[in-house]
Amino acid sequence: GEDNVPSIENLAEGLKSGKYKRIVVLTGAGVSVAAGIPDFRTPGTGLYDNLEKYNLPHPTAVFDIDFYKKNPSPFVMLASEIWPGRHLPTLTHAFLKVLDDKGLLLRNYTQNIDGLEVIAGVKEESVIECHGHFRTARCTSCKSPMSIDFVSKSIIEDGVPPICSKCGGIGKPDIVFFGEDLPNVFHNNINRDCRQADLLIVIGTSLAVQPVASIPEFVSDSVPRVLLNREHVGGWDRSDYNYRDVFVSGNCDDSVEKLCGMLEWSDELKAAYES
Ligand code: OAD
Repeated sequence: GEDNVPSIENLAEGLKSGKYKRIVVLTGAGVSVAAGIPDFRTPGTGLYDNLEKYNLPHPTAVFDIDFYKKNPSPFVMLASEIWPGRHLPTLTHAFLKVLDDKGLLLRNYTQNIDGLEVIAGVKEESVIECHGHFRTARCTSCKSPMSIDFVSKSIIEDGVPPICSKCGGIGKPDIVFFGEDLPNVFHNNINRDCRQADLLIVIGTSLAVQPVASIPEFVSDSVPRVLLNREHVGGWDRSDYNYRDVFVSGNCDDSVEKLCGMLEWSDELKAAYES
């Protein structure tokens, strides 16, 4: 009957009644668009449509490990433009903090490398940065750690790839390139977290890059899955047999505000956003 049709309203009811306590939130570039950071794949505005000046064989080459070793300058130029530090968290980041403060956030798996989750006040242990971050760096050849101050100075101030003092290889911040494995912290937690999750919320991602794109398949069949995104992605069930998938289309900040309104969390959301 109608009660079984999943909707944002009955998920809000479940949250209110304490039915969901171990929420996994999977986020992507869409959650930082309102902060002024373009996403990757939105036609026109996405980063991959705006790399002409780098003369790449294909857009994702800028984040390809083999390409970088042969031709580091496109990433060096791009990195100096996208290096974190100039942007503030969004309402959606504030929502993550509210869930975390309430003890409801089992984990935020983020594909983003902007570090805005932790800046928003989400506890470090609550966030897994699946594609790494700009806080540490290492050599792409011998893998020795390199000083992030040296690496950022080389890239931002000098505009040249950072050279490893141990082996002469080139360094880069610890963001995950195509051709590289995800950090251990991803592998060490993903199976347990997906097994324990009682709700999955997916926000602002095209679900185009593996293995993160498979997280919605890893949670148990009984776990409701909510997608807050501008477009319908990831094969969310829209058939007559759908019993657990909810798609809320539009800007995620608007959807988060609406959901928090239903939960009577608007004041907490506002406080988290302004803090
Ligand atoms: P994408 O650019 O592929 O997808 C962003 C998604 O967010 C799209 O579906 C947009 O429609 C949606 N979106 C944009 N703005 C939004 C908003 N304000 N509210 C709601 N939805 C919005 O970005 P990701 O899925 O994060 O990896 O990309 C995954 C990975 O591909 C990145 O981590 C990066 C990239 O290559 C690496 O570089 C390793």
